[in-house]
Amino acid sequence: MTLRAVVKGVGHYLPERVVPNSYFEESLDTSNEWIVARSGIERRHFAAEGETTSDLATKAAEMALASAGMTGADLDAIIIATSTADLTFPSAATMVQARIGNTKGFAFDVQAVCAGFVFALTNANALILSGQARRVMVIGAETFSRIMDWTDRSTCVLFGDGAGAVILEAEEGTGANTDRGILATDLNSDGSYRDLLYVDGGVSTKTTGVLRMEGKEVFRHAVEKLAETAHTALEKVGLGSDDVNWVVPHQANIRIIQSTAKKLGVGMDRVVVTVQDHGNTSAASIPLALSVGVQNGQIKKGDLVVTEAIGGGLAWGSVVLRW
Ligand code: UT7
Repeated sequence: MTLRAVVKGVGHYLPERVVPNSYFEESLDTSNEWIVARSGIERRHFAAEGETTSDLATKAAEMALASAGMTGADLDAIIIATSTADLTFPSAATMVQARIGNTKGFAFDVQAVCAGFVFALTNANALILSGQARRVMVIGAETFSRIMDWTDRSTCVLFGDGAGAVILEAEEGTGANTDRGILATDLNSDGSYRDLLYVDGGVSTKTTGVLRMEGKEVFRHAVEKLAETAHTALEKVGLGSDDVNWVVPHQANIRIIQSTAKKLGVGMDRVVVTVQDHGNTSAASIPLALSVGVQNGQIKKGDLVVTEAIGGGLAWGSVVLRW
């Protein structure tokens, strides 16, 4: 028998305020046509004044718990992937832990920017396979609207706020790739690409900073590295593109999503796409897309799902799981 980390619940939350592309036309030399053509984004959600990452994460967590038929007290661990935590410390995860009524588990944040959810999911899988936890909630939650340079049209039109959550539980599998649960993971980073995507401030410099990105270069790396990491993870368990029911990619740009799907040999009819409605929500984008995909009736029990993401670092990776 082989231990597997199986998805038992999923949920998401988007702030109430929806911001269409036309909003940026008022203050910047940009247009709805350019944003849609170059990124596929039509709208995004922005958190209200005073609404924080842990607020969004708590709502996503509550929906995931309800869908799993669990309460906060049932969890052994809570991991939040975020680069926009409420405070320098404590972690957003411990804040959510308190709000969902969990006092016996442990909670911590993971920071791998847009690849954060894939990194957090891989860590949760390791905790479960090593017997350190049986039930782990993994949340991706971000308020990237707080780190935008509103005068930089090449970045501020791309990002949004939101949160998504999944609950994993240990279950005995057969060890075959037909098991439900996480089947393979692949993580990578290369810090020599630091200057391609970063925030120009932080605690150690006593500033908050704003996001800076060499969009074209990040785009080039994304197309090359995302297909590669997905292939690597699939190959680890003897699976190929034909076996994939759903690719659930990081939602940064529709052109990256399309190029990666093509490289993977997966038609767009097998890709969950939410970038038009959410924009780039960094670590929240994959769990948001998973939750929306389930809600829409796309992702069903037993489906083979491949998630892949890349972001600042650069850091990138993928997780193959049977839903
Ligand atoms: O989540 C982390 C990973 N991040 C990503 O994956 C993002 C990757 N990059 C991208 O998605 C794309 O590179 C962008 C959407 C950021 C930009 O698209 P692009 O096709 O690479 O455009 P570009 O940067 O080459 O810019 C083309 C032109 C430039 O004008 P010139 O120099 O040709 O005159 C830009 O100044 O478009 C201009 N431009 C804009 N025009 C209107 C840049 N932003 C805008 C804008 N509205 N908002």
